[in-house]
Amino acid sequence: MPDICMVGTGYVGLVSGACLADFGNKVICVDIDEDRIAQIKDGVMPIYEPGLKELVSRNRDSGRLSFTTDLEEGVSSSGVIFSAVGTPMGNDGSADLSAVFRVAADVAYCMDSYRVFVQKSTVPVGTSEKVGAIIRENLKEDIEFERVSNPEFLREGSAIEDFMRPDRVVIGVDNPRARKIMREIYRPLYLLETPVVFTSVRTAELIKYASNSFLAVKISFINEMADLCEELGADISDVAKAMGLDGRIGPKFLHAGIGYGGSCLPKDVAAILHTAERSGVDLKIISGADQVNNSRVDRLMDKIKEEFSDISGKNIALLGLSFKPNTDDIRHAPSLRFINRALDEGAELSVYDPIAMDNVKELYGSRLKYSDDAYEAIRDAEGLIIMTEWNEFRVLDMDKVEGLMKNKVIFDCRNIYKDVELDSRGFRYYSFGR
Ligand SMILES: NC(=O)c1ccc[n+]([C@@H]2O[C@H](COP(=O)([O-])OP(=O)(O)OC[C@H]3O[C@@H](n4cnc5c(N)ncnc54)[C@H](O)[C@@H]3O)[C@@H](O)[C@H]2O)c1
Repeated sequence: MPDICMVGTGYVGLVSGACLADFGNKVICVDIDEDRIAQIKDGVMPIYEPGLKELVSRNRDSGRLSFTTDLEEGVSSSGVIFSAVGTPMGNDGSADLSAVFRVAADVAYCMDSYRVFVQKSTVPVGTSEKVGAIIRENLKEDIEFERVSNPEFLREGSAIEDFMRPDRVVIGVDNPRARKIMREIYRPLYLLETPVVFTSVRTAELIKYASNSFLAVKISFINEMADLCEELGADISDVAKAMGLDGRIGPKFLHAGIGYGGSCLPKDVAAILHTAERSGVDLKIISGADQVNNSRVDRLMDKIKEEFSDISGKNIALLGLSFKPNTDDIRHAPSLRFINRALDEGAELSVYDPIAMDNVKELYGSRLKYSDDAYEAIRDAEGLIIMTEWNEFRVLDMDKVEGLMKNKVIFDCRNIYKDVELDSRGFRYYSFGR
């Protein structure tokens, strides 16, 4: 079994590294962030992901999983190098590949014999070829290596389950020797009869963007339908339910509301649009999905304005800051777009999230009031916004909420409550498409 070096120990690198170790591989995870590696060695996970701490600790104890900041140690002890560094959105919407290219150069410098270099980060089509050229330029001697694209589809919040029991594994590889090695690494998934799709490297790179763009399109589609429902007096929940029962459509990603955020969909949509534009292809559907998503917070503000013509000085409670439940990730979260708008307009925000508070504090400091629980945030609020559908916000004690709020108005950005229930309690209840 080839030993694995995972470069980049973030959401994807840490989860993938720990899961690959659990498959029986020996894995060494590398990161340039010394604090992060020190924390992990102390048993403190740098991200919130259910089950991760136990998985890491079990595999460390078994001797299959280790951590270092020393790339040379990782590369010299491993036959297969995975790169899982970030590819954030650049200023022009393109994927910022600086970390990807830096890793390629640094890994090449440490190589002393044949290696397989696997790109796990989401990168535009053609990146692997550029990475190959960088590796070649930086090798100290003429060493053989193979490039593989193995995009990751895990979702934050259920990342371990997604990695261990994926719908499919995509492996872009142009060489039989590397293909055999990749097959060996994912052997436990073969035994579970997980579909493994082998393609060319370029095709694998595109599959990741095509998949995420399609999910974005699905969300924006249902959000546009929700807007239409509001005008026509139809109910988007029933529309989505009935649509989703059609096996050709499926029920997932058909939840109307505030739109998508997170570390993947917004940046991957922007990146594929950028790639397409440079290739002279007009991706009208994906571009439309992007525009619809960018206007969801405007839609929320319109609803808020229906209630209060001016939110300046209004005390608003905001529940849920992470881009979705079960993660502390706030990258491109709709909550941030809303916070920026509401602060600009002079609102006073009391915020609460079960996990993501520290990340938001880092961004906004004293400009927000941070609460210890949902009810503290709600106390004296003139309006309540439910932004992220954490389970604890699905079962708020409405007697208590009623008693605490100064003004009984709820804006439910995830359609988790039923209007009849809240109307009967005298709340003014706003949701999306119902
Ligand atoms: N987060 C997700 O849910 C998810 C899912 C699928 C795919 N992806 C893709 O996976 C990639 C990684 O995403 P992420 O969310 O894990 O990013 P992340 O920001 O959480 O982690 C990246 C890590 O790489 C480290 N790093 C940066 N430069 C380095 C270098 N030169 N050497 C070693 N380490 C370095 C950083 O310190 C950080 O710990 C991205 O391309 C992303 O699009 C992410």
